Amino acid sequence: MLKIINVAGARPNFMKVAPIVAAMKLRRAEFQPVLVHTGQHYDASMSAAFFRDLEMPEPDVHLGVGSGSHAAQTAAIMQAFEPVVGKEQPDWVIVVGDVNSTIACALVCAKLGVKVAHVEAGLRSRDRTMPEEINRVLTDQIADLLLTPSLDANENLRAEGIPEERIRFVGNIMIDSLLVNLDRAKRSTVRADLDLEHRNYAVLTLHRPSNVDEEISLGRILSALEEIARRVPIVFPAHPRTRKMIDELGLAGRVGRIEGLLVVDPVGYLDFLQLLSNACLVLTDSGGIQEETTVLGVPCITLRENTERPITVEMGANTIAGTDTTKIIAAASRALDNPPDKSKLRVPELWDGRTADRILDALIEKSEGSLSEPPAVAGG
Ligand code: UD1
Ligand code: UDP
Repeated sequence: MLKIINVAGARPNFMKVAPIVAAMKLRRAEFQPVLVHTGQHYDASMSAAFFRDLEMPEPDVHLGVGSGSHAAQTAAIMQAFEPVVGKEQPDWVIVVGDVNSTIACALVCAKLGVKVAHVEAGLRSRDRTMPEEINRVLTDQIADLLLTPSLDANENLRAEGIPEERIRFVGNIMIDSLLVNLDRAKRSTVRADLDLEHRNYAVLTLHRPSNVDEEISLGRILSALEEIARRVPIVFPAHPRTRKMIDELGLAGRVGRIEGLLVVDPVGYLDFLQLLSNACLVLTDSGGIQEETTVLGVPCITLRENTERPITVEMGANTIAGTDTTKIIAAASRALDNPPDKSKLRVPELWDGRTADRILDALIEKSEGSLSEPPAVAGG
């Protein structure tokens, strides 16, 4: 029996942790899961809504850390998490993704000599101005087991000198949640409530500091939205960071004047899946949404200069447009004029809804010390 602490802290963690905890509960003879919520995200729309929609158990431990500068938040999570590890004495701690909760908890474990598994290891944007890139590189250096979503991630880890026996290609855990919940998402009334026509609206999300924390970059994106919204209505569930910055930068009036741009609070997981799957276009700077649109076959325009998820571009659904106004408008026009032929879009290997079980198998094998031979599927 392996006792495992599963760490979740921010919105994009919940849909990664839910299927892992659910799989552990089904394999109760092998696993004893403990769920720790760091409290990095705390608004009901950023946290509680996901526990409800993903039918997750209440956290066993809530660290209640909240917001702060990178150093303050990371340090607060570390201080609060250390005694929990001391008390629970887990065999493994699982961290997911690339948020501050991920690196903070991995670092605590590395110093205590407790084994850490990193789910979604090996992704690289090669942009170190991105806080998440620092979190990814450092977490992968100190984790004992690196569970990758795609084979390009294995290559990235090898190039950083990480030994093969620490790497295991397991597929994309977010897609486990996506596939399990798509039918339930069809029953959401959000699209009808917002008066959006099937395949005749776009979805927008924005929250990267490089896009929303200063006026010039946010202004460039707004200029593009002013054009695109003339052609197609855009629903924009605005992240709290973005809401705050729109107000602080004095841009609320400009945003309010864009006819066709519908700004709403962040929506829950099932509502968001319903919005995504019926849209004709998605504009985003999110990491996870690039992956979900790839599986749903919905054209995605990524409002960033780079991506740590190049496989989504390779598969055909994602376009990296950057943050230049003209380029965003041109990419949106192309996608609206020539909707992709869904039959030509591809889904990456092992994005099949069965990643959670492969993660559990890898933990068992690694615990038995039998993971020294890389599996054939890891691409040699
Ligand atoms: C964090 C992650 C980012 C991830 C994003 C997903 C880091 C470094 N960043 O960014 O990788 O893509 O979450 O959504 O870990 N706030 C609220 N209510 C909340 C949460 C945040 O109002 O429930 C506001 C606060 O003003 C806070 C700001 O949003 O200061 C930023 O929150 P924070 O967790 O620091 O970073 P995110 O931008 O959410
Ligand atoms: N999401 C959601 N409601 C929203 C916006 C996003 O449920 O209003 C989901 C989305 O489907 C995906 C995840 O949140 O599963 C992505 O999180 P986010 O964009 O905050 O973070 P990132 O992936 O960029 O780290």
